Amino acid sequence: MDDNPVIDMLGRRLRLAVIGGGPGSFIGAMHRAAARIDDRYEIVAGVLSSDPERSRAAAIAIGIEPARAYDTPESLFEAESTRADGVDVVAIMTPNDSHHRYALGALRHGFDVICDKPITNTLDEAIEVLDATEKTGLVFCLTHNYTGYPMVRQARSMVADGLLGAIQLVQVEYVQGGKAAERDPERAENDAVPWRYDPVRGGPSLVMGDIGTHAHNLVRYVTGLEVAEVSADVGHIVANRLVDDYAGALLRFDNGARGSFWVTQAAAGVENCLRLRVSGTKGTLEWMQESPTQLSFKPLGAPAEIRTPNGPGTLPLARRSSRIVAGHPEGFHEGFANIYSDAAEAIAARRAGVDPDPLALSFPSASDGVAGLAFVEAVITSSGSGGAWTTLR
Ligand SMILES: NC(=O)c1ccc[n+]([C@@H]2O[C@H](COP(=O)([O-])OP(=O)(O)OC[C@H]3O[C@@H](n4cnc5c(N)ncnc54)[C@H](O)[C@@H]3O)[C@@H](O)[C@H]2O)c1
Repeated sequence: MDDNPVIDMLGRRLRLAVIGGGPGSFIGAMHRAAARIDDRYEIVAGVLSSDPERSRAAAIAIGIEPARAYDTPESLFEAESTRADGVDVVAIMTPNDSHHRYALGALRHGFDVICDKPITNTLDEAIEVLDATEKTGLVFCLTHNYTGYPMVRQARSMVADGLLGAIQLVQVEYVQGGKAAERDPERAENDAVPWRYDPVRGGPSLVMGDIGTHAHNLVRYVTGLEVAEVSADVGHIVANRLVDDYAGALLRFDNGARGSFWVTQAAAGVENCLRLRVSGTKGTLEWMQESPTQLSFKPLGAPAEIRTPNGPGTLPLARRSSRIVAGHPEGFHEGFANIYSDAAEAIAARRAGVDPDPLALSFPSASDGVAGLAFVEAVITSSGSGGAWTTLR
């Protein structure tokens, strides 16, 4: 990662605007760090909050010049699209219901887009964003950041290289405990609740939007398979909860493989346990987010192996995703940065009119967002009909 393909191609860094990620937001700081780690972007404009005064103060506090600390995303799009030195890329990290509006606005003004998941709250909205992306030819990067870990990328390459044979079984779980003891917020006098607890803003299922889409995306990224049908159960296990805190589903894949999916935010004491097991005719891969530098490979009839970033047997996609020699752990920030850096390479190549390195193009896109929303929709529909097998739209 010593070279800077963006500067090589454009003679400068990409100019980035951030929308969302104001004080108190966990993910805003992750986006900004991810943009800076490989020095491919400079953050030059922003709207960090829905409150104009707080937004301006927060933008200035992260080094944005006052003239480019805007009151609303719409005013940012208008002003930046007419500046000679206007932004190239807009990164969206606002509540879920606004992704659709801001992504379409950014694309219509000619900006490449980096957007946090879920891409939108409904499948129809996601399809609209995909259509707009295809019509404009702009880059759309969806920050399913777990696909940026070197050992997840190693797993994808090992599956693609046939080391597992034909994939037959997939197990994915994303288990968190953050909502195990928490009570759902009371409605305020004006009937408002935090956006995640409002289905109009947070989406039809809290657990599916927050972490179910990540788990589904991880499976697709590593295996290259599509979930074709689901038999699901969604709901809440914490008493009197207004929103979903767990979802489980049996999966049938497009190649006939079978799978299971289990996500919850109410497992007392668990932190961020995203875990994947993929079994093929020749062996099994296992990976867990809480120890991300270890990928276990269990070949049929041979001793198990542990693969590590830049360790023996590292394949090219994983190699380009580590910045440091073997044995020096990289984690969440660096995985997130891999998504940003790959998107930067694709955006710079598009702007320079050259072909990007094909290895830069594995980051999740608008079509992955559409697949994610089709999965969410099918899981909710199946659960609503007593777990009936439901085909993804
Ligand atoms: N990739 C991940 O692992 C990950 C993790 C957490 C959250 N997220 C996603 O990030 C998004 C934000 O989640 P969060 O937990 O940071 O939420 P949050 O409520 O903590 O923060 C949202 C931020 O957006 C700002 N905001 C709201 N409306 C805005 C507007 N109109 N213009 C500009 N700023 C506005 C708020 O002021 C706040 O600073 C969600 O879509 C969520 O799904 C992704």
